[in-house]
Amino acid sequence: MARTIFGPLKPIEAEDTLAEHHRLRKTLSWPHLVALGVGAIVGTGIYTLTGVGADRAGPAVILAFLIAGAVCACAALAYAELATLIPTSGSAYTYTYSVVGEALAWVVGWSLILEYSVACSAVAVGWAAYLVGWLQSVGIELPAMLLAGPHAGGIINLPAVLVALAVAGLLIAGTRESATVNIVLVVIKLSALAAFVLLALPAFTADNLTPFMPYGFGSTVDADGTTRGVMAAAAIVFFAFYGFDAVATSAEEAKNPGRDLTIGIIGSMALCTFIYILVAIAAIGALNYQLIAESAEPLALVLRALDHPVAAWAVALAALIALPSVILVMMYGQSRIFFVMARDGLLPPVLSRVSPRTGTPVLITAVTGVFVAAVAGFFRLDEIAELANAGTLLAFIAVGGCMMILRRTRPDLPRIFKCPAPYLVGTLAIVGCIYLIASLPGLTLVRFLVWNLIGVGVYLLYGRARSLASRGKVVTGI
Ligand code: ALA
Repeated sequence: MARTIFGPLKPIEAEDTLAEHHRLRKTLSWPHLVALGVGAIVGTGIYTLTGVGADRAGPAVILAFLIAGAVCACAALAYAELATLIPTSGSAYTYTYSVVGEALAWVVGWSLILEYSVACSAVAVGWAAYLVGWLQSVGIELPAMLLAGPHAGGIINLPAVLVALAVAGLLIAGTRESATVNIVLVVIKLSALAAFVLLALPAFTADNLTPFMPYGFGSTVDADGTTRGVMAAAAIVFFAFYGFDAVATSAEEAKNPGRDLTIGIIGSMALCTFIYILVAIAAIGALNYQLIAESAEPLALVLRALDHPVAAWAVALAALIALPSVILVMMYGQSRIFFVMARDGLLPPVLSRVSPRTGTPVLITAVTGVFVAAVAGFFRLDEIAELANAGTLLAFIAVGGCMMILRRTRPDLPRIFKCPAPYLVGTLAIVGCIYLIASLPGLTLVRFLVWNLIGVGVYLLYGRARSLASRGKVVTGI
């Protein structure tokens, strides 16, 4: 078994050694994967964090979207190369395991929990806010104690808990059904964004873009303690872009991984970047940024201000119907990553059993659903979104690094998708992600460090001794 200073490496050609009950079924083709990507990408980020971004950067939130999109595009290219080269579940965790070594792979896997689970929780909380607002608009009031966690004077955010558990149930029912439902939801939310752009863009006023950068470019802490600047906004709206990598986590279930994953990752990423820039220009051009900054539902606010109340109501309803698709795809990705980590022996092996009836890892999906629901029920949206960003940025750094290292160490491997200018793109992805991490609020960075220290503790106490690789057994890899 090959080793580095970071522990054993996953061998590269071992898929056939998998026992049948540890294999996932190949049920997905590229339209499912593009929809899976768009389903994970378009969500709370564009529907709600556009307002937070405007608060942090002013009209230059448009620039923040461009910066975050450019960094994600570089990461997406690196992902596409690795996902087609290493088409087994596990995404950045598996790539790091095969390229750098087990200990770092564990750290990346631990960060992916933030990306997938904690981001799911953030979207569930955002969804709950839409639900409450929408029910109020039709005259229904729910008891306040059941709508927020203790941080806001409530007991539990029950709608957020329920939506998380419902989505977990859908995943347990089977991948294919879930992916088909996802396509319908994707169409709904893209239609709503298209309607928004068509209605808001004609009201574009250049005056709304000045001053363009009221808080400067770099991330700095204001007198009121808020971290502001274009980069601070980019570090927040980054949330709106990720999710395309969830496609990579489904590699083992793709019918034709080479073609399907490339189209899935690059296609969904490019489509979403284009839409976001249009939405941001339309929103900021139509209404003063300070008004947008104050809103928890900025797109509906803009439409109401432009005297389109019915459209505002419909866009909010679309968000309500469609945001669960983000939870669906992210939770899907998380359960597959936990599944692979368990299969590798780093988590209890009972978690990696696949149901013979549905072909899905039932227990691990249920565990993921309960974890997501618990975080959504008791924590604040902005905090968990920032923490999810930190975890995702670390995973993206790992992916950029692995792509470049593998070009050096295994130039012989057949690459179905080749990242263009790999060393430039990989370096830009890494440097961009480091800059975005450094632009996050200090408290988020402290929490991220604590999270990783806990992760390292779990690895030292459990995974290191029990991993199949450390016991010299074959671990599935590329
Ligand atoms: N990109 C996803 C969203 O914006 C996480 O909700």
